[in-house]
Amino acid sequence: MSTDMTTTSDAHLFSPHALGALTLPHRIALAPLTRCRTGVDRVPSALHALYYAQRASAAIIITEATQISPMGVGYAGTPGLHSDAHVEGWKLVTDAVHASGGRVFIQLWHVGRVSHPDWLDGRTPVSSSAVTANGKLRIRDGSLVPFVAPRALTTEEIASIVQEYAIAARNAMLAGADGVEIHAANGYLIDQFLRDGMNQRTDAYGGTIERRMRFLREVTEAVVRACGCSRVGVRLSPTNRFNDVCDSNPHELFPAVASMLNQFHLAYLHVLEGVEGSPSAPASGCARVAPLLREAFHGTMMINGGYDAITGDAAIRSGLSDLVAYGVPFIANPDLPLRYRLGAPITPPQQATWYGSGATGYTDYAPMQHAGD
Ligand SMILES: Cc1cc2nc3c(=O)[nH]c(=O)nc-3n(C[C@H](O)[C@H](O)[C@H](O)COP(=O)(O)O)c2cc1C
Repeated sequence: MSTDMTTTSDAHLFSPHALGALTLPHRIALAPLTRCRTGVDRVPSALHALYYAQRASAAIIITEATQISPMGVGYAGTPGLHSDAHVEGWKLVTDAVHASGGRVFIQLWHVGRVSHPDWLDGRTPVSSSAVTANGKLRIRDGSLVPFVAPRALTTEEIASIVQEYAIAARNAMLAGADGVEIHAANGYLIDQFLRDGMNQRTDAYGGTIERRMRFLREVTEAVVRACGCSRVGVRLSPTNRFNDVCDSNPHELFPAVASMLNQFHLAYLHVLEGVEGSPSAPASGCARVAPLLREAFHGTMMINGGYDAITGDAAIRSGLSDLVAYGVPFIANPDLPLRYRLGAPITPPQQATWYGSGATGYTDYAPMQHAGD
């Protein structure tokens, strides 16, 4: 893989890139976007298949976050990947994306403490430690309620969650996905182990950086065993504070995480650290961690957070990243790579329909008409 700083300098947003066995035609990936469009069965439908097929011109699609188990749920309308019905639903998506010439990785997710007994049949949410998130979340009836105190997982329970990741990864393969992305970002379960603002454990999963990384290492090992290394990516968010999780020294923690991940020869490392002024940008005065991850990680890197065609191209030309993921820009522009290539106008999305409005604001954004259509 061409990831050292000198060989990537000829690359740009529209040059091809090898990702495992896949050849990506350009560098514009679809970032994972939760859109809350399943029914209560949490099974992807023909509507999901259409939405993703419409975006198949992405270099690679990373799907919305997808629960590995019923205990991993924290929102309405998010899909799962832990039953035969889920596998059948995801097959609709992967078939539609492949028929449209695309490639798709399914993002594997456990929310940990970002949940509520209302989503868990009365059970208490689980986490690294019994630390309650500040803020509120929405429950089944649509009302906003404060987070509850989670329960710290036992080491036996951690081992079974690692197995749940592996089963979900195998299910992704059964469903015909090209790979999976382990969601270790944004304050969800794996991040609740990584960052010391949250992890207060005193056993083998807490304390030193080595111990806080252990859960991610075990999950990655199990998922790589299930799918093969070239089909696995990992997503990190070193400096955002989503879901009330932060770290006292991200500049030490996250390069150590990237170095640890080198042993697995992953398809890619996905780093959410937004450009200045974007919601996921580091706080002012906090130096960016992404360049350190670029140095520490020896495979393909994908950057994300507030990029456009110009800043994304610059991120690749400067050697910061091999790929750039775009989230919000893809919502209302299903043919985003073509628009960027032509310098065509970008349609702004309707934020009111980001989550859970059926086809409206989901599959009804038209591709642009251009000469030759
Ligand atoms: C509606 C919406 C849903 C999102 N869902 C996910 C998700 O499921 N998994 C994830 O890792 N990030 C999720 N994110 C974060 C995006 O992947 C991305 O990091 C963020 O939008 C910044 O990139 P952008 O400026 O290109 O949109 C979501 C963001 C938005 C706006």
